[in-house]
Order: sequence, then structure tokens, then C-alpha cells
Amino acid sequence: MDELKKYIKKACEATDFTLQRILPPEDMYPTSIHKLMRYSSFAGGKRVRPCLVIAAHEASGGSFGDENVLKAAAAIEMLHTFSLIHDDLPCMDDDDFRRGKPTAHKAFDEATAVLGGDALCILAFEVLATTGKIEIIQEIAKALGTRGMIGGQVVDIESEGKTVTKDIVEYIHNNKTAALIKASVRVGAILAGASNHTLEKLTSYGNSVGLAFQVVDDILDVESTTEQLGKDAGSDKERGKATFPAVWGLEQSKVYAKKLIEDAWNEIEFLGEKGIILRELAEYIRVRIS
Ligand code: IPE
Ligand code: IPE
Ligand code: MG
Ligand code: MG
Ligand code: MG
Repeated sequence: MDELKKYIKKACEATDFTLQRILPPEDMYPTSIHKLMRYSSFAGGKRVRPCLVIAAHEASGGSFGDENVLKAAAAIEMLHTFSLIHDDLPCMDDDDFRRGKPTAHKAFDEATAVLGGDALCILAFEVLATTGKIEIIQEIAKALGTRGMIGGQVVDIESEGKTVTKDIVEYIHNNKTAALIKASVRVGAILAGASNHTLEKLTSYGNSVGLAFQVVDDILDVESTTEQLGKDAGSDKERGKATFPAVWGLEQSKVYAKKLIEDAWNEIEFLGEKGIILRELAEYIRVRIS
């Protein structure tokens, strides 16, 4: 895990450096929205998605410092941050803390938070366009729309307070969270010119790891504290969310997360040494505490 820690640190630094270059300065008019975009972007996220973009790229034969990969990693992080700003709004999960700080609408106001999220999304696509790689733009757009993140968020909100089936919870999680994580892995691989076989295997890896990520997020919401998570613990139960622990129970959810990570490992076994970081990232996603 020491190697992984070093890798995550390096990938976070490269992502932060790229974000610093991309995001408008705080003192640019209108300052409120530019302050908010930076406030949420640099609040201390784990940067799991950029790590997956870069690691999948390297595992597929690409190099760490590739300019397009760093742009894609930073753009995906901006898109993820946009999804979190909107997820926390009073009309969605109504949460007060995120990444150890007051949520964007608390630190600023609701209108600026809505617009700041929108602006991060639009800026991300502007940056992606500069890569000239239509395939990855399409990939990411699809993962975020109604066949991905937004579709999942719609069913998540519509399921609040209802008894839902396992299939519905799986739909929600596959779409609201796994879709963008899977796309992160695929984008890294596509930019390295991965073969069809590698791309297929990495897609399955991304799917399993992405679903496991949200199962673990649900478990942490039950078992962890607000201090440790940097976001409101117990929020899911309070809102009657459709989660894995609610439908499967805590223990079964843990067993399922473990199985998903093992499935992910099996998919990338063929990579041998080149797959070590992806393997360790998958395990980190399962055992993380925040
Ligand atoms: C939180 O994502 C939202 C989910 C999809 C579960 P992360 O746990 O990756 O949040 P940050 O980026 O580290 O804050
Ligand atoms: C959010 O899921 C997934 C997104 C697409 C933002 P959650 O609502 O469970 O995420 P947290 O727990 O607030 O981070
Ligand atoms: Mg939510
Ligand atoms: Mg939420
Ligand atoms: Mg959650």
C-alpha cells in the first residue's frame, strides 16, 4: 500500500496543478462564482476518479504526464465536483458539510451553488474539447446524462422514503456513481490506444469498482462519523434513501463489496505487473474510511 500512497499523492498533485491552470482566478469578475468553483474544487476530495484515469492510462501502455490525460483527469474531477455541489442542495440531499467544509450553498448561497455547478460542468467540456478527442467527450457525456449519473440521481430522489427492490438500488448505484467511474477508467485506456480486449476488461473492472464505490459509500454513511467523512454521516437513513445497507443489510453489503472488488481483480489479472496500481486502487476503494 506504500506504493499506492505515493501514486495517489503524485496523481493528486498532477490533478491539482492542472485544475489550478484551468479554473478562472478568484479575483476574476464575477468573483462570487469563481470563488465558489475553487472553494469546492480544492476542498480536499480524494481524487479517486483522476487516479483511475491516470492509472488505467499507464496500465494500457500510456505515460503518466500525457497532457490530454491530465486534462481529462482534471475535467472528470470538475464534473464530479459539479455533481456533488448539486447533490448537496436543499432540493436534493440537503446536506451541510462536504469535504470537511460547509457545502457550497451554505458557504455561498443557493443560486451561486447552482450556477457554480453548471459552470464547472461547462468548463470541463470546454477543456475536453481542447484534446480534440471526440470519443472521450462522447464517453463522458453519456456517463453523466440520463443514461448515467443524472438518471441515477433522478431515481435516487424519486425513491426516497419508499421500499425499493434490489434491482432498483443496483440501477441507482450503477448510474449515479459507477457510470462516471467506469468512464474514468475507459477514458484513460482509450487515450492510450488500448486494444479492444484491454478496453473490454478494463470496462468490467470499472463497472465493478464503481458499484463497489457506492456500496462502500452507503456503508460508511451508517458506520462512520461526520468528522471522519467530512460530510454528514447518517444522512441516508434520515432521508429514507435507497441504499445497499437498507435493502441488503450491513453485513451482506460488505460481502457484496468484497465480491465486486474480487471480480475487478479477476478482470485485470491479464495485465500482470502493469495492473498492480489498479488492483491496489480497487482494494483502497473497499477499505477506505472516508
Ligand atoms: C462522493 O464521492 C459521492 C459518491 C459518488 C459516493 P467521493 O467519495 O469520491 O467524494 P470526494 O471527491 O472524495 O469528496
Ligand atoms: C451521490 O451519492 C452520487 C452523485 C452522483 C453525486 P450520495 O448522495 O450518496 O453521495 P454523498 O454521500 O452525498 O457524497
Ligand atoms: Mg445523493
Ligand atoms: Mg448526497
Ligand atoms: Mg452517500
